[in-house]
Amino acid sequence: MTSVPLRLGLPKGRLLEQARPLLRAAGLDLSSLDQQARRLVHPVELPEIGPAEILLLRPSDVAVYVAHGVCAIGIVGSDVLAEQHPDVLAPLDLKLGRCRICLCAAVDSDPYRQETPRIATKYPRIATEHFLSLGAPAEIVELSGNVEIAPLVGLADGIVDIVETGETLAKNGLVIKAVLEQVSARLIFNRAAAKLRPGPLSALEERLRRAVAEVTP
Ligand code: PRP
Repeated sequence: MTSVPLRLGLPKGRLLEQARPLLRAAGLDLSSLDQQARRLVHPVELPEIGPAEILLLRPSDVAVYVAHGVCAIGIVGSDVLAEQHPDVLAPLDLKLGRCRICLCAAVDSDPYRQETPRIATKYPRIATEHFLSLGAPAEIVELSGNVEIAPLVGLADGIVDIVETGETLAKNGLVIKAVLEQVSARLIFNRAAAKLRPGPLSALEERLRRAVAEVTP
């Protein structure tokens, strides 16, 4: 009987690049993993785990693969956990990919002062809960990306989105009106995998925990 290799879901793009030094410090050699090459499944050898597969996924899909048990392990932004509330274990803050989820709008606009502001976002749950917590419901317009365009062209009064360097906001004439929450990358485990293979998963967690302590300033 051939057993399914243990799979690790990693977020394609910026977060993966930021995670490489930490993963290297934890003994995971991803030097052969080239994001430009468009190959999405990569066989690797993981310390204390052995042969495994890395799946390169859209950041917002990583927790879906882990919750469904396709991947035993994943790395995902806490923004995704806050939005999706996936049924996974999140044992470790990797202290990278740090950014903030913010309400942003044009300098002269104040969504909080509007009766029912229209808010464009990739984070409908977080945006809805924020306005409900203030007792002031908003109309949410769900978009898939580049949400900064929406207030510029009249689709929305403001946006709820990730701000990292602030460059995208500045280039589009928007400013932060409120910080809703701090974000960083998390190690996540499938619940069943953590029960069935506690040894390899906790060994990886321990390696990453030590690497976070070494790498994080
Ligand atoms: C994210 C976010 C902002 C931008 C913020 O988008 O949605 O648009 O990064 O980063 P900054 O503050 O450093 O400028 P991403 O690049 O992930 O693309 P997307 O909007 O297509 O999802």
